[in-house]
Amino acid sequence: MATDDKMIDALIGRMTLAEKIGQLTMASANMATTGPLEGNTWDSEIRDGTVGNLFNLFGPAETARVQAIAVEQSRLGIPLLMGFDVVHGHRTIFPIPLGEAAAFDPDLWERTARQAAAEASADGLNMTFAPMIDVARDPRWGRIAESAGEDHWVNSRFGVAKVRGFEGDDIADPTCVAGCAKHFAGYGAVTAGREYASAEVSERTMEEVYLPPFRAAVEAGVASIMPAFHDLAGIPMTAHVGLMRDRLRGGFGFTGVAVSDYCAITELIAHGIAADDAEAAAAALLAGVDIDMMGFSYARGLPVALSRGLVREADIDVSVRRVLELKLRLGLFRDPFARGATRAGAANVVLAAAELPSSGPAEVREPLVRNPSTAIGPRDYALAREAAARSMVVLVNDGVLPLDTSRGLGRLVVIGPIADDPGAVLGSWSGAGLAEEAVSYLAGLRKALPHWSVDLAPGVSVTGDDRSGIAAAAALAAGADVVVLCLGESAELNGEGASRLDPGLPGRQADLAAAVFDAGRPVITVLTAGRPLIAPIVFDRSAAVVMAFAPGTAAGDALADILTGRADPSGRLPVTWPAKLGQVPIYFGQRPTGRPPADNNRYSARYIDGPVAPLFPFGHGLSYTTFHYGTPVVDRTVLRRDETLQITVEVENRGGLAGRATVFIFTRDAFASVARPLLELRGAVQVDVPAGDVRHARLALAANDLMFLGHGLSPRFEPGTVEILAGASADRAKLLGVPVMLED
Ligand code: GLC
Repeated sequence: MATDDKMIDALIGRMTLAEKIGQLTMASANMATTGPLEGNTWDSEIRDGTVGNLFNLFGPAETARVQAIAVEQSRLGIPLLMGFDVVHGHRTIFPIPLGEAAAFDPDLWERTARQAAAEASADGLNMTFAPMIDVARDPRWGRIAESAGEDHWVNSRFGVAKVRGFEGDDIADPTCVAGCAKHFAGYGAVTAGREYASAEVSERTMEEVYLPPFRAAVEAGVASIMPAFHDLAGIPMTAHVGLMRDRLRGGFGFTGVAVSDYCAITELIAHGIAADDAEAAAAALLAGVDIDMMGFSYARGLPVALSRGLVREADIDVSVRRVLELKLRLGLFRDPFARGATRAGAANVVLAAAELPSSGPAEVREPLVRNPSTAIGPRDYALAREAAARSMVVLVNDGVLPLDTSRGLGRLVVIGPIADDPGAVLGSWSGAGLAEEAVSYLAGLRKALPHWSVDLAPGVSVTGDDRSGIAAAAALAAGADVVVLCLGESAELNGEGASRLDPGLPGRQADLAAAVFDAGRPVITVLTAGRPLIAPIVFDRSAAVVMAFAPGTAAGDALADILTGRADPSGRLPVTWPAKLGQVPIYFGQRPTGRPPADNNRYSARYIDGPVAPLFPFGHGLSYTTFHYGTPVVDRTVLRRDETLQITVEVENRGGLAGRATVFIFTRDAFASVARPLLELRGAVQVDVPAGDVRHARLALAANDLMFLGHGLSPRFEPGTVEILAGASADRAKLLGVPVMLED
């Protein structure tokens, strides 16, 4: 037996039941609130071994202090897991995932995760609760903001890139943290977009859409998984033996730690599948949930469950082993203080004496230095600025963009409640990010246009009813050469617990917009939101519309880069943008039905009072130049089961500016043993094309990737014709295709 196994066996052999359950307990500290129960300090519980893991804390001093209690003062000296929601940055905040997904660049996604991990580990953390890879197709659901959008192929690649960024080649590296793929699974399908509601999803759709990103994350080696709050067809995910144990661990081969969501084990009682803590604890443990996050149902319920025979101590030992193995893999037994404050010697800021841990091992009490990466350095900021610019999507442009900054003085008026709100641009999981370190849209525009006059009028607040500022804003707009109208959501209006019945412009922003448009000057509307907004006035009357999502610390500089053309707008929508809320859920991968929508046919899958087509399709986004996409060229017209198809798409830049094109490659299997989606995304290939030049996007597509789930959900490779389609978005009318014959 390997040394590590022996060490873990010996340790488990020495543990009392209370200490074992302590390793299965994670308590919230009080540096952030992310759930219904307030956090606390847990020094005595760490000391007596009944709390073996913490979250919602950060900082070299505090993490060193509590780790020292665990390592120096508890009976067995087992180090703590210390986690935090580093979802889109730690101190340097990057775009929210839905925004970063718009960059369609796994390399960028990995680089920002790497930076986030370096900053989080420098703050003493060894675990993050990310990536969130829940496919999301309903803008009423606030957590669409945290996802990589509507498609499983995108969420899969987003999740893999994030896991690689967080975990590196070995999570023992003190600049790495354990990732946590969440929320397993189908959370994005909550009924009517209502947070925490039930999800009714067919087995087929679970297997084809909601589970693949988690399989990909497991194959990428993700260290932990978090089951979701909801029940799937009546079985809460936290107790879902079929998916948590059989599919995730048995089928996907996941051997890591499953950490419940916040109080989710205790909430099995509210779900109605457990009468008390003992039944809730037994149900979750037997489903393979190893750690009870903040509910303390394991602490209260497992001893009783044991006495009732609902679980055996061997079942508890299985989970204890997985937790200890994770701590071992993280290198915590070797050096529990490797992450966090670095030893004295570097010419950095030295923590004030008051910040030094009052107790703990002698070496921790040396003069500690704050690791430079816990402050935003120029390199970190440059990455934030790149990611933010590449997350922005130009939805509409009548030619007003890019701004003509070549002439002398211009008069720019920046209007709206988000214009100078650095908090709104940090988004819903802003980690250790500081609003005062973020660059607002106004600040960025003033820096970029030093010779212009740039005036501000908030007009209204984000959600208030006060309209008294509208007249002044409209009057200011009337005297402008161009207006930048900054509207949308504050960070509190999206993310967890932020489902919206009417995902449009909050408060009196539409009234402000109407008055500004009536002033008669060209208006560039910048939307900051965690979801596609249903805002017809914006799209009917703006000269240009930029979807900025929530761009993070570098928001203002990135927006200025886009509006002035310093950066070519290469962002493309990772979600379909509904024309009407009644269309939701709307996404490109729908099935054809037996009566496809036809405007002039009552007896078809249409609406009688509005369009079936979205306002903007998945993949939509304008550049400042004009790309022309050729018909895909394939290296063979017959593809056998063990072969790979080489696909090439020519992209011509017919405009006057260089730009970055994203070529989306889909397949359509029109006739098969089950009805197949109208489009299936197989690739998103970016090519930089100089003005007037031609480049080629290339994709290798293995025949086996065209297998699908037949009757009984059995994987099938079916001979027959498959169409390879390519273009700038999922707008079917603009895709060009070529048929390929699949043969056994
Ligand atoms: C929250 C979220 C989850 C997060 C956890 C810890 O309730 O659902 O995504 O990681 O609690 O903060």
